[in-house]
Amino acid sequence: MRVRELTVDDNVAYRSLSAGAFGGGFEAVESRPFSAGETAIGIGSEQLPGGAPGVVAAGARIRHDRITLGGGVVDCGGISGLAVHPAHRGDGLFRELITATIARCAQEQLPMSMLYPSHPAIYRRAGYQVVASVQRLLVPIVDLQHLPKMPDRRLVPVTGASMPRLHGLYRELTAEDNGMLTREGPLFPAGLPSGGWSALLLEDHDGIAHGYVSWTRTAGENGGAGLEVHEILGRTREDRLALLRSLGSWSTVTESVVLRVRTEDPVLDVLPGSGARPVDGLPLVMMRVIDTAAAFEARRAPAGLAGAVRLVVEDDTVPEGTCRSAGSWLLSAADGRVAASPDEGSAPEDGSIPGDTGVPDAASSPGGEAAEVLGTARWDIHAAGLLLMGGRTLADARRLGLSAIADPAAEQFLDALLAGPRPSVLDAF
Ligand SMILES: CC(C)(COP(=O)(O)OP(=O)(O)OC[C@H]1O[C@@H](n2cnc3c(N)ncnc32)[C@H](O)[C@@H]1OP(=O)(O)O)[C@@H](O)C(=O)NCCC(=O)NCCS
Repeated sequence: MRVRELTVDDNVAYRSLSAGAFGGGFEAVESRPFSAGETAIGIGSEQLPGGAPGVVAAGARIRHDRITLGGGVVDCGGISGLAVHPAHRGDGLFRELITATIARCAQEQLPMSMLYPSHPAIYRRAGYQVVASVQRLLVPIVDLQHLPKMPDRRLVPVTGASMPRLHGLYRELTAEDNGMLTREGPLFPAGLPSGGWSALLLEDHDGIAHGYVSWTRTAGENGGAGLEVHEILGRTREDRLALLRSLGSWSTVTESVVLRVRTEDPVLDVLPGSGARPVDGLPLVMMRVIDTAAAFEARRAPAGLAGAVRLVVEDDTVPEGTCRSAGSWLLSAADGRVAASPDEGSAPEDGSIPGDTGVPDAASSPGGEAAEVLGTARWDIHAAGLLLMGGRTLADARRLGLSAIADPAAEQFLDALLAGPRPSVLDAF
């Protein structure tokens, strides 16, 4: 295996590779450790024919994030800065590196992996699946200027001291979403973000926070000011309207704001006027299952859902044993919890859904008591990525041409288990 962990001694060479691939400058003088909360891996150029020492031929960073999933939280390896040196492209290094990256995610107990692809097809061949896109809307300020003032609500500035309140609201108001980063340290340090980031909290007159809006002033079109709104989160429709109303005050310096929204964001349901337009160039979000059982067990089962299914996941995109995505499990739900235990030898190899497998029709539920086995399902790795992130049915997966077969009772159970909002991510890396 030529892929190794990159250390402080590789940092300048890696930053040179990354800046060369993605643009942007870097200071070659100082070697520094990679960020806490990230693992960097790569291949040294000197190991390759014609390679040079002190050059990183291929490298990538794995962020240690946590994301919301089905009412719970799961560790997720966010892949960033993946690049191959121009001298070594076209020789299969990408394939070697992405396979090692997936293996490293498994080694670091990260059950899911996520990335923003510039070229989705090459990641798809490694088992990643498009699950969402980052959506931005251009909203004319005139649409926001005539919203009424909300009773018992006031806006207060966000300072370093009030950032924990804002973060608490973010966690509370996105806890039931799928795919949202929990924004914890060390990758998200406490305190005010830099680079012109600002925010307002929405409080009632007792000082209880009900929402916030955050934005960055940017250079707008034709030399004017622009306003990139990162997120509007509010408890109620009225709270979201109060926050939208606050954006109307920017009419003296800009005609429109760019508003980043989640998939089916509740703010879309209160947006006044008719002038909002999507901003071009939606970045895609891809996810990959690294550990199927751990990803299922991170979820909470919907109230009242009880039972079990046999689930087979097939993954022919990476060599066997690279990670824990493929296998057969007895998957059960009870009392709001999900359990996935290995189910060796019960699934036929021919890809069919078994009728009578001869194995017991009861599985141990999360509480330990026997749960009725309702049937069997068989997914490929792409269906697993799509479905495990929530908000899609097995029929949706089949409509995309993915392999997600199940007998009817198993399908009904899995659709109920994985129901929820479609995934969204509001952080780019
Ligand atoms: C994209 C990049 C990582 C590919 O690295 P590489 O080592 O040359 O790729 P490989 O030789 O391993 O080829 C991997 C696959 O990508 C395909 N591929 C490689 N470069 C490609 C290109 N420019 N356009 C389309 N497909 C390409 C290959 O055909 C191959 O397909 P396969 O999976 O069917 O065999 C490399 O060109 C690079 O670093 N580019 C700049 C940075 C970048 O785009 N990084 C990815 C950011 S998400």
